[in-house]
Amino acid sequence: FRVLRFLWRATYISILGGLVYGSYGIYLNRHPGEQAEPDPTKKTLVVLGTGWGSVSLLKKLDTENYNVVVISPRNYFLFTPLLPSCTTGTIEHRSIMEPIRNFLRHKKAAVKYYEAEATKIDYEKRIVYINDESEIKGATTTNEVKFDMLVVGVGAENATFGIPGVREHGCFLKEVSDAQRIRKRIMDCCETATFKDQSPEEIKRLLHMVVVGGGPTGVEFAGELQDFFENDLRKWIPEIANNFHVTLVEALPQVLPMFSKNLIDYTEQTFKEETIEIRTKTMVKNVTEKYIEAEYTDAAGVKQLDKIPYGLLVWATGNALRPVVKDLMSQIPAQKDSRRGLVVNEHLVVKGAENVWAIGDCAIANYAPTAQVASQEGAFLARLFNQMAKTDEIQEELSLLSEKQAVAANKELRDGIFGDIKELQKRLRRVKQMGPFEYSHQGSLAYIGSEKAVADISWFTGNLASGGQLTYLFWRSAYLSMCFSTRNRVLVIMDWMKSPDKGFPLVIFS
Ligand code: FAD
Ligand code: NAI
Repeated sequence: FRVLRFLWRATYISILGGLVYGSYGIYLNRHPGEQAEPDPTKKTLVVLGTGWGSVSLLKKLDTENYNVVVISPRNYFLFTPLLPSCTTGTIEHRSIMEPIRNFLRHKKAAVKYYEAEATKIDYEKRIVYINDESEIKGATTTNEVKFDMLVVGVGAENATFGIPGVREHGCFLKEVSDAQRIRKRIMDCCETATFKDQSPEEIKRLLHMVVVGGGPTGVEFAGELQDFFENDLRKWIPEIANNFHVTLVEALPQVLPMFSKNLIDYTEQTFKEETIEIRTKTMVKNVTEKYIEAEYTDAAGVKQLDKIPYGLLVWATGNALRPVVKDLMSQIPAQKDSRRGLVVNEHLVVKGAENVWAIGDCAIANYAPTAQVASQEGAFLARLFNQMAKTDEIQEELSLLSEKQAVAANKELRDGIFGDIKELQKRLRRVKQMGPFEYSHQGSLAYIGSEKAVADISWFTGNLASGGQLTYLFWRSAYLSMCFSTRNRVLVIMDWMKSPDKGFPLVIFS
């Protein structure tokens, strides 16, 4: 009885605590403190992008120290790890978006935001040229933003490797609009397949969902899609049940190459049980409106070209450089040999450049292009910039004190100032002692469908590899805790609760 009473009290207190915490988060979100105006006499720090890297920088940056300008065509932060769930409606897209304006109004000093794309960075002149790509344009004639310091956090584009037809016929999975387009196409394929007098071959084609790229994006999407079919489509449109089929095509011998071998095997086994077909060692070479052409090696070791008809094609073959990054690289001789992005040093400064930093998917710092890396890089830069501002402040104070000391009337006064100078010099040395960026890998997680996930987690000195439904609980809690705001967290929980087949009890645990 005592144990039960203790458990009841503990549950009661945690629920109450959760409610208080949630309400306080929402209150803070609605009522930020007074904001100081941006100070144009301070150094202008221009931040490109509103993704994982840039937003993590802005979160921790003391904006009072700089005249901060943010430029990005996307006026919201997107929590990409849950984007695959948006393609099937498990998660509503607004649940994983956070308006950048709402976030910026909480900064101590105001930050300027321009909804525009940086089209060119003139490194010599220290100017970013911008273009408003949105539908509604004003009458502004200037498209130049001057900078003293620049952070490039523009992420990456979808890689197509120049394969013909990909852009015209395939769907990518990087932005909210991509997820919406995929969702629409899944439904369109199902409805068209059940349209009157459709031939059996056409029905088969329309209901063949092909995913190219066996990295985490492709695997997570394939898992979500199969779930959508099992939980909803099969019931809504029973006549498609025999023909709906998901295939994952991967050029390498296995999917999820960044995970441990046993988790790769587990994923492949789970996909088999879920009836998702995996075609490894198969390289797509051409894409047409209704089929893809893929090269594979047959049992006799001979290369063959296979035509694979599809209704929906999702293309998830990784990252490529954005043009603005390519152009900046061409202006800096030290970047000449880099192919994958802006090479940075241990303080994330673009090699061969001064006062230009790069973070996230557009930077090459020997880490995988992940949200984890981008956000840690952003947080590091915020600390660096905060310290740099302190350094400038102390140096200014030091030169003032030196001047005072030079004209001091008597020895006693000079000695006093000397003591202050020594103290400040000590502080300056401490502040300047900022070590290089060190990435701390927390592990890799991926959802693989039917309420299972795989996780390679750094555990003290070793690595813990696990897969299954418990890992799925962990996946949910980890992503819930990583959500940008309390509002996002509440909305994501509500979305999970609305999806009865995805396990209501799992929501309670997560
Ligand atoms: P992004 O987050 O892509 O942000 C780039 C920003 O730059 C955007 O705001 C964009 O609008 C803006 N921009 C683009 N062009 C310009 C321009 N010319 N001028 C100005 N601004 C510009 N990683 C994980 O660690 N865990 C996961 O579970 C995970 N899941 C993922 C799921 C999916 C579907 C995808 C696509 C990626 C996932 N990733 C995950 C990878 C992760 O999202 C990226 O590594 C991360 O977004 C990189 O952050 P970033 O700041 O470099 O770029
Ligand atoms: P990726 O680069 O990880 O994988 C792309 C895959 O496509 C590769 O395995 C490649 O061999 C294959 N491929 C390339 N061209 C091909 C072709 N013509 N035919 C067939 N296969 C081809 O890309 P992804 O999955 O988009 O991920 C990008 C980054 O985002 C990665 O760093 C990844 O770690 C990260 N990410 C992490 C997630 C997580 O941790 N859960 C989820 C999604 C992305």
